[in-house]
Amino acid sequence: MVKKVFQFLQPLTNKDGHLLFDGVAARELAKEFDTPLYVISESRIRHNYKRLSEELTRNYDKIHIYYAAKANSNLSVLKILETEGAHLDAVSPGEVFLALKAGFSPERILFTGTSVRNDELRFIADCKVPVNIDSFSELERLLKHVVPKILSVRVNPKIGGGHHDHCITAGPQTKFGLWEDETLKTYAKAKNAGVERFGIQMHIGSGILNLEPIILAFDNLLSMAKKIRDKLGITFEFIDMGGGLGVPYKPEENELDLCTFSNRILSLFKRRIVEYNLGTPFFCLEPGRYLVSDASILLTSVTTVKVTPFKKFIGVDAGFNTLIRPSMYGSYHHVLVANKVTSQEKEIYDVVGPICESGDFLARDRLLPKIEEGDLLAILNVGAYGFAMSSQYNSRPRAAEVLIKNKKCLLVRKRETFDSLVFNQQMVE
Ligand code: LLP
Repeated sequence: MVKKVFQFLQPLTNKDGHLLFDGVAARELAKEFDTPLYVISESRIRHNYKRLSEELTRNYDKIHIYYAAKANSNLSVLKILETEGAHLDAVSPGEVFLALKAGFSPERILFTGTSVRNDELRFIADCKVPVNIDSFSELERLLKHVVPKILSVRVNPKIGGGHHDHCITAGPQTKFGLWEDETLKTYAKAKNAGVERFGIQMHIGSGILNLEPIILAFDNLLSMAKKIRDKLGITFEFIDMGGGLGVPYKPEENELDLCTFSNRILSLFKRRIVEYNLGTPFFCLEPGRYLVSDASILLTSVTTVKVTPFKKFIGVDAGFNTLIRPSMYGSYHHVLVANKVTSQEKEIYDVVGPICESGDFLARDRLLPKIEEGDLLAILNVGAYGFAMSSQYNSRPRAAEVLIKNKKCLLVRKRETFDSLVFNQQMVE
C-alpha cells in the first residue's frame, strides 16, 4: 500500500516500509546512480510554482515571480521554472550565464549583486540584464559603461528577518541595501543620467515563517517609493518584496499559509499604491527556498555504525561537503531510513559524514529506526541551498543529481570524479 509520509512533503510515500520519492523507490535510485545522490522532483517544483502564482494572481494581476537561482541553479531546475513563466533573480554573472542558457530572456532576469566588480557590471549590462543597485558607487561605475534603460535600487527597509543571523539581510547590521539618503541620491543620479524606467526592491532575509517582519518591511519600502515619487517624480514599473518565504523542516512545523500571505501582502500593496499615487506597478517577489526546497531529497548510504561510551554514531557517505546547512546554521533536516520507514524499534543517533571535522554532522540526537550498515537514509528538504552550497572539501568529488520527470529518472548532473579534483590545477615540479 502506498501512503503519504508527511502531509507537507508531498512527493514522499511509503510502500511496505520502503520510501518512494515522486513514485520512484529510493533503493532503486541508489542502486542505479549510487550515493550520495540528490533527487529532484519536477512535478513538485511545478506544483510549488503554480500554487504560489495562483494565490498571488487571485489578488492582483500584475505579478512577476523571480526565482532566486542561488537556491538551486541546476540547469534543468532553471528550465522547469522558465517553462512555468518565472522570472529570475541572479546574484552573480555565473547565474546570469546559466539563466540565459536555460532560456530566460534578459528582461526576465534581475541582477542583484553585492560588492560587484566593474567587469562583472559590464558583463551584466552587455547581456542587457537589468541591474538592482546595492551601492551608490555601483551606480556610478555602471553609468561609466552605459546608461541602462531600466534600473532598480535595493533599499534597506530597516527591518530584517531570517532563520539564522547569517541569513538576515536588512536592518542596521547588514551590508545590504541603501538607507534613505543614499536611496534618494542614487535615484536622482540615475534619473539625471537619463535612466527612464525604474523599479525598487528589498530582501530582508531567508527562511521566514512568521509574516510580520516581511509585512512591516514592505510597508517601509512602499513609503520609500512614495518619497521618491514625491521628491523626484519617479513612477515605478515594479515593486519587489524580495524572497525569504520559509518552509517547514520539522514534521511538527506548520507550513506558511499562502492564502493569508497573498491576502495580507497584496491588500497592503493595493491600498498603498492608491493612497501614495504609485500607479499600477508589477508586484514582484523572489522566492528561492519556497519553490525548490521540498522538491528534493538527498540519499546517503550508511557505511559505519559506531558506538562509543557516550553516543551512537551513524556514519554515512554524505557530509558537510554534500549538505552544509546543519553544520553551518544548525539547521534541522528530517531524516528517514528509506528501507525502514515504518520500523518501530528506535534508537537515538548522531548522523555524521566522512569529513575529518567534528562539525561534520547531518543530524544530532535523532530518534531513528534501529540502523545497520548498508541501510539507506533520505535527508529531506534539501532542494534549496543543498547541492548549491556543496564543495570538494577533503578532496571528495561532488554528488550526482537526478531529476524525476514523469516517473523517469534522468541524470541531470554527473557525479564528479577524481579528474574533477585536478581539473584547473597545474602541478609545478
Ligand atoms: N533575493 C535575494 C536578493 C536574496 O539574497 C535571496 C537569498 C533570495 C531572494 C531568496 O531567498 P529565499 O526565498 O530562498 O529565502 N544559504 C542559506 C540561505 C541564504 C539566502 C541568501 N539570499 C540557507 O541555506 O538557509
